Amino acid sequence: DWTMAEYRATKIAEIREQVGDAKVICGLSGGVDSSVAAILIHEAIGEQLTCVFVDHGLLRLGEREQVETMFRDHYNIPLVVVDAEERFMEGLAGETDPEKKRKFIGGEFINVFEEEANRIGGADFLAQGTLYPDVIESVSFTGGPSVTIKSHHNVGGLPERMNMKLVEPLRELFKDEVRDLGRELGLPDIFVGRHPFPGPGLAIRIPGEVTKERCDILRKADAIYLEEIRNAGLYDAIWQAFAVLLPVKTVGVMGDGRTYDSVCALRAVTSTDGMTADVYPFDAAFLGRVATRIVNEVRGINRVVYDYTSKPPGTIEWE
Ligand code: XMP
Repeated sequence: DWTMAEYRATKIAEIREQVGDAKVICGLSGGVDSSVAAILIHEAIGEQLTCVFVDHGLLRLGEREQVETMFRDHYNIPLVVVDAEERFMEGLAGETDPEKKRKFIGGEFINVFEEEANRIGGADFLAQGTLYPDVIESVSFTGGPSVTIKSHHNVGGLPERMNMKLVEPLRELFKDEVRDLGRELGLPDIFVGRHPFPGPGLAIRIPGEVTKERCDILRKADAIYLEEIRNAGLYDAIWQAFAVLLPVKTVGVMGDGRTYDSVCALRAVTSTDGMTADVYPFDAAFLGRVATRIVNEVRGINRVVYDYTSKPPGTIEWE
């Protein structure tokens, strides 16, 4: 039986003990986990920590700015922001296979990260916001052969290649505990309560080929959907909500004209750890409002559908 204040103190002591006066590098994703890990480690070792945020062009609207503001202004933690959109879009061009998309993004993320680590003269430790469910979901299922449902990428692969040791202060925690720890560390509620966001970002919410143009379309639809969810006071009741841009065009009618544009799917689920999930039961009026706004306001989308599949048998993300 322990409180988050005690956990914080214990972990700070452990991090200091583990790291000594060595350098640590931390990849920020903009999510709660890596942010909480970085803030905790910064509290333990201060300037020995360098945080790197890779903007791969697969982020949500305003996300990079929010992270920059949070770390620089609120915590005064130095942050290296890498503009890598172009190289990610080039690498994703023509690729439609979900696992290859993930593999490329994971690999390229490591390349960018490694370049930045070298720029600061290397580091002995790599910090990660790995949680308990990540630890168990990536272990092979008991008794059977090792099964990978999806190759989740944090920054696996880096430690071996760069000869770095791992600092993972959240390994014993579940998501709700990480949120408590974040509050304990002074993270604002709006940040602590943020829905999880996958490392490969919007790429796994754009089945088929990912282009900057499609990312821009999806960012707009997603922002409208989340704005309506917040306005309706539903954000905190939902584990994850996001829009998906489908590689399917359908015929529509707008004014006197025929349209032929993409379909957008909306997803919203409740969950406690992401391993199982139920569909969030929006009322019809809410869904109607979101659909109308997206079709009216986002060029390139002329139809909106709602995904009514639980996990299992579906997964939360579409890829
Ligand atoms: P699925 O789609 O497998 O997702 O039901 C379960 C949870 O994991 C997140 N997710 C990822 N997170 N890298 C991540 O860091 C990934 O490659 C990845 N794929 C899925 C997903 O958003 C959900 O919270």
